[in-house]
Amino acid sequence: MKKNKFARQTKRLILRPLKLSDYKIWKNSYLKSSSLQNRWDGSKKPDDQLEIQSFKKLLKYQSDQRKTENFCDYAIFDKKTGEYIGMLCLMNFVRSVTQSAFVGYSLLNQYWGLGYATEALLALIDIAFNDHKLHRIVAGIEPQNKKSIQLVKKIGFRKEGVSKKIVLLRDQWQDLVQYALTCEDVGIKWQGTTQIRVR
Ligand SMILES: CC(C)(COP(=O)(O)OP(=O)(O)OC[C@H]1O[C@@H](n2cnc3c(N)ncnc32)[C@H](O)[C@@H]1OP(=O)(O)O)[C@@H](O)C(=O)NCCC(=O)NCCS
Repeated sequence: MKKNKFARQTKRLILRPLKLSDYKIWKNSYLKSSSLQNRWDGSKKPDDQLEIQSFKKLLKYQSDQRKTENFCDYAIFDKKTGEYIGMLCLMNFVRSVTQSAFVGYSLLNQYWGLGYATEALLALIDIAFNDHKLHRIVAGIEPQNKKSIQLVKKIGFRKEGVSKKIVLLRDQWQDLVQYALTCEDVGIKWQGTTQIRVR
């Protein structure tokens, strides 16, 4: 795997932040997606959100969020065809003595069932521990989201328990099953520093 900071190439994929020149391939993938497969499927956007102005707003939002480490998005592309496949992110960073973040991921549904999410998440784990120098990443998944649970279990995330009514989704406070992974779990020594308050 070739290593550029905050970007990766895997056998079949490229992970990196979105840029303006991606607009056409990004839009094309949304236009080619099938009807929504489940309630977590984000493969469709209203027409106005596929316009260039919305894409520019999205890029600006992603760039602002990245600067403050609120939300770091990584777009996934097919290495061979250049197609836009979906995205992964690291969010809710907690630094200090915690050094953790949550992971998120969403592929356009025409790319499900091909092992792309597994391949991309393994690369994001590498970015999380080696580039962001986190110690721990967590996936918070709705208990009914079997595909997502299957993905993290296959990769080796540890089930830690259910957090009751932890997130407001679709106007309802939802439970999330928390799955976590530390850098030691994947054989990486923690490389960060903490800013501990001097008393
Ligand atoms: C969750 C999600 C990313 C999983 O995607 P996925 O394509 O099922 O995940 P994987 O990459 O692990 O693919 C696994 C499947 O690919 C198949 N596969 C085919 N070729 C493969 C290969 N070369 N390597 C590995 N798996 C391969 C596997 O057999 C498996 O099939 P199965 O699901 O029928 O058992 C996807 O369903 C999604 O985007 N959902 C909507 C958003 C969402 O729910 N996000 C998570 C919120 S917590």
